[in-house]
Amino acid sequence: MNSTEEIRKEILRLTREYSRQTHQANLPGFGAAPRRPFVPGETVVPYAGRVFDEEEVAAAVASTLDFWLTLGGEGEAFEEGLAAFLGVKKSILCNSGSSANLLALSSLSSPKLGARRLKPGDEIITVAAGFPTTVAPILQNGFVPVFIDNDPATLNAKVQDLEAAFCPGKTKALIMAHTLGNPFDVSAVVAFCRKHDLWLIEDNCDSLGSAYDGKLTGTFGDLSTQSFYPPHHLTLGEGGAVNIVNSLKFKAIVESFRDWGRDCWCASGKDNTCQKRFGWKLGELPEGYDHKYIYSHLGYNLKPLDIQAAIGREQLRKLPAFIQARMRNWETLRRGLAPLEEFLAFQLPTHARAWTPGGFVWEGDGGPRCQPCWFGFTLRVKPSAPFTRRELAQHLDARKIGNRMLFGGNLVRQPAFVRLREEYPKAFRVIGDLAGADQIMNETLFIGVYPGLTDAMLDYLIETITRFVKRS
Ligand SMILES: Cc1ncc(COP(=O)(O)O)c(C=O)c1O
Repeated sequence: MNSTEEIRKEILRLTREYSRQTHQANLPGFGAAPRRPFVPGETVVPYAGRVFDEEEVAAAVASTLDFWLTLGGEGEAFEEGLAAFLGVKKSILCNSGSSANLLALSSLSSPKLGARRLKPGDEIITVAAGFPTTVAPILQNGFVPVFIDNDPATLNAKVQDLEAAFCPGKTKALIMAHTLGNPFDVSAVVAFCRKHDLWLIEDNCDSLGSAYDGKLTGTFGDLSTQSFYPPHHLTLGEGGAVNIVNSLKFKAIVESFRDWGRDCWCASGKDNTCQKRFGWKLGELPEGYDHKYIYSHLGYNLKPLDIQAAIGREQLRKLPAFIQARMRNWETLRRGLAPLEEFLAFQLPTHARAWTPGGFVWEGDGGPRCQPCWFGFTLRVKPSAPFTRRELAQHLDARKIGNRMLFGGNLVRQPAFVRLREEYPKAFRVIGDLAGADQIMNETLFIGVYPGLTDAMLDYLIETITRFVKRS
């Protein structure tokens, strides 16, 4: 009979072998490992997807064999790795990017923040075109979103509208995503938040690895959030994180909202970290009531499994190569599609004025400001084009090329928001006509730059789009 250690080794050896044979389509596109042959028009070219090798599969199986299941040692190690990569004080894992936004926004309501705590009816500035769950948790917490417009060239907020959105005594925070990996105008946003003493939450779900003035996005706000759903820069299947940039007072607050709202901060499987488990007197509870069951917030349970974190640790090792691949793939598409500028406009990094084969031309000749780690490659169909955005999307679909619109487009035109405005006209405010968000909603789509794309796939993307535009 083999020892359990030998059995485990054998299981993991076989797991790796199995994965090598079955997951070739998910390998990085830039690696030397053999992949299934690419057949143009037959092989699907997704806009994004899981990229992994046998190490992630072995990590998942090893963690399953341990069968700790709930968040534990793997989670702790992943949190440390992510925080170290970003250079933030702490990263807190949760089960999705949407949950991370919910936790970040809920935490602003904590009484532990004293006078800076948000109350129902307080306003939070955000941007109109983007992902719905950047905004929904504002409303879910009883706060009021105030939408400003997007710039169709960068897809980010028009920061010149920030002052118009500000309402003294009401505006308390700002949450925005770095759209598709493109950092928003951090210097304007940070200056605005400082001037008015506002909390800043960066939705960094689509921009892990992007930099602004040489510093990673996700490190400028009070809090920032990540998503680890498969299309994102690294994946745990499902998952997300709240990053605490500077003030560790948020640690206990975010963890409390994540873990049922409890006051106790012991990790799963640990007791009495505070050394006075039966010595607390809080609320109207009797003295000595078990700290494990004392709730200082109206919380949730948004924890992921430790198995996910084990996968994430392997993904983190690959992150630098993933980041390079996203940047390289974007550049390849930009160069390849440059001849189509008569009818297509391409996303510009914030503060860039134009793209040239030699690089971007930056505002005021001050040199590069943004280094986006792109989530996707945006095509905006110009009004003068002899084809529509819809026709382009349908053509790409027919050629098995994955494409997406900018998530919810102008969110206030979504059925959920239209109904909300009808039923509760004061549920949100809108600044200006949101013409930029509408333009994005009507004219743009994006294709992939994810690290699973091979050179052959990129060539196919360029060739297919070029043929379509030239033939139209
Ligand atoms: C900007 C942004 N924020 C939040 C999310 C939500 O992340 P999740 O799908 O992990 O809930 C997404 C999802 O893609 C996103 O693009």
